[in-house]
Amino acid sequence: MTSYDPSSLLADRTIVLIGGGSGIGLEVARRAIALGASVVLGGRTAARLDAAAASLGERATWATVDTGDEASVAAFFERIPAVDALFTTAADYVVGSMRDLDADQASSPFASKFWGQYRVVRAALDRLTPDASIVLMSGAASVRPPAAAPAYVAANAAIEGLARGLAVELAPVRVNAVSPGTIDGNLWAHRDDAVREAAFAQFSADTVLHRPGTEQEVAGAVIHLFTNGYTTGSTLYVDGGYSLR
Ligand SMILES: NC(=O)c1ccc[n+]([C@@H]2O[C@H](COP(=O)([O-])OP(=O)(O)OC[C@H]3O[C@@H](n4cnc5c(N)ncnc54)[C@H](OP(=O)(O)O)[C@@H]3O)[C@@H](O)[C@H]2O)c1
Repeated sequence: MTSYDPSSLLADRTIVLIGGGSGIGLEVARRAIALGASVVLGGRTAARLDAAAASLGERATWATVDTGDEASVAAFFERIPAVDALFTTAADYVVGSMRDLDADQASSPFASKFWGQYRVVRAALDRLTPDASIVLMSGAASVRPPAAAPAYVAANAAIEGLARGLAVELAPVRVNAVSPGTIDGNLWAHRDDAVREAAFAQFSADTVLHRPGTEQEVAGAVIHLFTNGYTTGSTLYVDGGYSLR
């Protein structure tokens, strides 16, 4: 992965997608397979991973893993000899105001999204190929805080900082972050209709392009970061201009 040519640079590479059984991770898997890569999907639910891998074909394999459990993450990587690219969408947290959440609840974006990704990268360290590319999952709330989500804002800002710190420590391995706005995809499809519609209307009003994004648009950015050999320590905002307003 030394120059930008996604049509060939991912061929025969191994891409690990934890959270790849659904949503943005699964869309990255589809694109990577189309570009000739093999993918290893991770997540907590075997049936979801099995169905996702079956939809991708023989170059997709899967194993269960819980990014909240260090031993589980270590066991997951034991069966993968080399990692060329790594992206973790796995996270499970609550979002709310300082007044509404106690400290344990408020720490969940750090516990799951920040430390989950930290654990994954650390467990993969000895398997990363010299030109490997890591993309961390953030969220554009990092730079434009919504009304009542201060700890979630801080966790995403920390993830973008982690990408910069790891880009320095792990070079020539490249480390970047992708920071989406609100995405009309699997995550929101499983939320209450009224909550989703209100969130999409608010986001559409707040962002320059006046609509939520798509999983395909985020996946395209992740593939770009996997394959662009001269980008490291960057955060790519796939947010329709949300962070500008
Ligand atoms: N969608 C958006 O609007 C949006 C916007 C900004 C940022 N993001 C970020 O994107 C990520 C979510 O991705 P998504 O939108 O594609 O949602 P998603 O479809 O819900 O994907 C999350 C995946 O992670 C897995 N997972 C959750 N917790 C896990 C754990 N502890 N260990 C292993 N796997 C776990 C889930 O499967 P199991 O439950 O089976 O484990 C699921 O397949 C989050 O970090 C979120 O903050 C999303």
